[in-house]
Amino acid sequence: MKFDTPAAKNPIDRLKVVGKATDRIDGPLKTTGLAPYAYERHDKVRNPAYGYVLGSAIAKGKIAAIDLAAAKAMPGVLAIVTADTAGKLEKGQFNTAKLLGGPDIEHYHQAVAVIVAETFEQARAAASLITVNYARATGNFDLAALKDTAVKPVADGPGGKPDTAVGDFEKGFAAAPVKLDALYTTPDQAHAMMEPHATTALWEGDKLTLYTANQMIAWSKGDVAKTLGIAPENVRLDSPYIGGGFGGKLFVRADAILAALGAKASGRPVKLALTRPFMFNNTTHRPATIQRIRIGATKDGKITAIGHEGWSGDLPGGGPETAVNQTRLLYAGADRMTKTRLAVLDLPEGNAMRAPGEAPGLMALEIAMDEMAEKLGIDPIKFRAINDTQVDPEKPERKFSQRQLVKCLELGAEKFGWDKRKGPGSVREGRWLIGMGVGAGIRNNLLMKSGARVRLNQAGIVTVETDMTDIGTGTYTILAQTAAEMMGIPIDKVVVTLGDSDLPASAGSGGQWGANNSTSGVYAACMKLRETVAQRLGFNTTEVDFADGKVHSGNRSIALGEAARTGEIVAEDTIEYGDLDKKYQQSTFAGHFVEVAVDAATGETRIRRMLAVCAAGRILNPKAARSQVIGAMTMGVGAAMIEELAVDKRFGFFVNHDLAGYEVPVHADIPHQEVIFLEEEDPISSPMKAKGVGELGLCGVGAAVANAIYNATGIRVRDYPITLDKYL
Ligand code: MOS
Repeated sequence: MKFDTPAAKNPIDRLKVVGKATDRIDGPLKTTGLAPYAYERHDKVRNPAYGYVLGSAIAKGKIAAIDLAAAKAMPGVLAIVTADTAGKLEKGQFNTAKLLGGPDIEHYHQAVAVIVAETFEQARAAASLITVNYARATGNFDLAALKDTAVKPVADGPGGKPDTAVGDFEKGFAAAPVKLDALYTTPDQAHAMMEPHATTALWEGDKLTLYTANQMIAWSKGDVAKTLGIAPENVRLDSPYIGGGFGGKLFVRADAILAALGAKASGRPVKLALTRPFMFNNTTHRPATIQRIRIGATKDGKITAIGHEGWSGDLPGGGPETAVNQTRLLYAGADRMTKTRLAVLDLPEGNAMRAPGEAPGLMALEIAMDEMAEKLGIDPIKFRAINDTQVDPEKPERKFSQRQLVKCLELGAEKFGWDKRKGPGSVREGRWLIGMGVGAGIRNNLLMKSGARVRLNQAGIVTVETDMTDIGTGTYTILAQTAAEMMGIPIDKVVVTLGDSDLPASAGSGGQWGANNSTSGVYAACMKLRETVAQRLGFNTTEVDFADGKVHSGNRSIALGEAARTGEIVAEDTIEYGDLDKKYQQSTFAGHFVEVAVDAATGETRIRRMLAVCAAGRILNPKAARSQVIGAMTMGVGAAMIEELAVDKRFGFFVNHDLAGYEVPVHADIPHQEVIFLEEEDPISSPMKAKGVGELGLCGVGAAVANAIYNATGIRVRDYPITLDKYL
């Protein structure tokens, strides 16, 4: 089904099931430990062996010699695979470094061997006996040192053009009566999802099955085939349950490839999970940024010039963190400029992490807006409202399909008690300095084609089948809600099967596009199913209604399952959008509010309250959406206050590579979180009129925390994380 204009009559708009706060249908399986994750596929795999990965001890150079003899002689060892014995391995489309290194080493903890043994302990013990002699080469590990010589990306990336310009920024900025020119930094960050990367690999002849934790099944199936040099039809990925991803599982990682190689070499199914201390340097991370923001405005607060330059680094052939991109869209201003610069670094591979680009970009931009508002003597919410735009400021002919940013901010101000906010460092309760901060959030709504198949049986049960994934986001539930709404049945009459590459290819879970696109794919398949049902029942297809488990036409009503009396009905379709996203700018918006308390003597800082007001189209399941947003808000607190991968600039690795050294906040750290969704439907976004919220919830939070700390203390910190040593 091609979606380009909203349908006049749309069955989803009945909203009997969709739009209602609904418990996770997979919740009981997960909370009782019955949901099988990638490392636990005892339901499918008998007598597996265990894989353990040995990582490089250097960041750059070569393996001069590798001695496996002692490891091979260890009890229980079945096979050891290195680059010497793996056969030819291609680099996947989405990988920057090879997933099995040697003899060349591209980054610290790049895999150099997989050891397969009868038990995990045997594999680990054998790994410790492998001797590798490295020829270490010098590498570049310090982004700041390269900033002034960094080169720009050679090609336009998936984030669009690296540089944009409208009008004459330099001239406009020079002439502006009020100016800000400031430098901000954000550190490398880790996804730190609960479930590490894990795969159980099984060969049956030429056919490879990977029970794996992966957000994007279709992309990754292709990349497994490419990497191993086998036909895509011989590869199956199955990923029904995933313990978090945050972008770290968008692509195939070492666990999948090395489990496959280990299984081939040992002739046994192989279970392989990356250990937690290995995750941080072996997989991907959100790259550090340096950002320069210049804003020029008239005395009454109208932005006349806005410029945002971002520097980040990655391995040779890698891409930039697109931290400047949201600045193209968020505020008006005639003279504008964005620039993205990329340095070659020999640190582990950088890649997407929840709201890639926007999350670190807004951490800078939304402090800059706070600083500018203060210079102007204008309330920061009013300053943002003055500079709101309903069109893409770089391409004024493109309107936003919906944009209620100002409403998010103004409603948030009212609900949060923003009028009680005072000047910096002026509110004190006993030993605590109290501050409030605000940050605006924007995250785009991306349209991706998405397929699904639906089956109806005689019992009136509808089964949804798609390779879509649920990374803890609630996909099972919103797809069930969609099918239930479309077919006029209760949600418990819907069965949802996900994550299997043998099922129709979906949009996958990435870029907060999963919810809107995957439900639209189910919508499209259900439209076809409705047609077939009506035909089978001999109804005029235009006048038929699906409700209460029955199909109604005129004064006749027949149970839905009756249509499948002579055999199951199967319908399959894919939602596609043509060039709809070229005509409109589609984005989601948020106002984030934070109150902090800072101990006047020790600097100890506590989050006291948080509020997010979001405008993100129709909210399909307010309960699941709220969970997404409060999780993201918590992640934003981590980004603002504690999360930082500490770079060893001599040897080129992340020092704090476990969850004791890389700490993340939890909900218990934040006593009060509230989320308000504006009533909104976006008829341009899809037949569902929905968008995503999973990344929006993070966008702008970090700066809201930073601005609250400034408001509490009167000390402005521009280098994240904002730890207390920076404002004591
Ligand atoms: Mo997201 S970083 O596209 O999983």
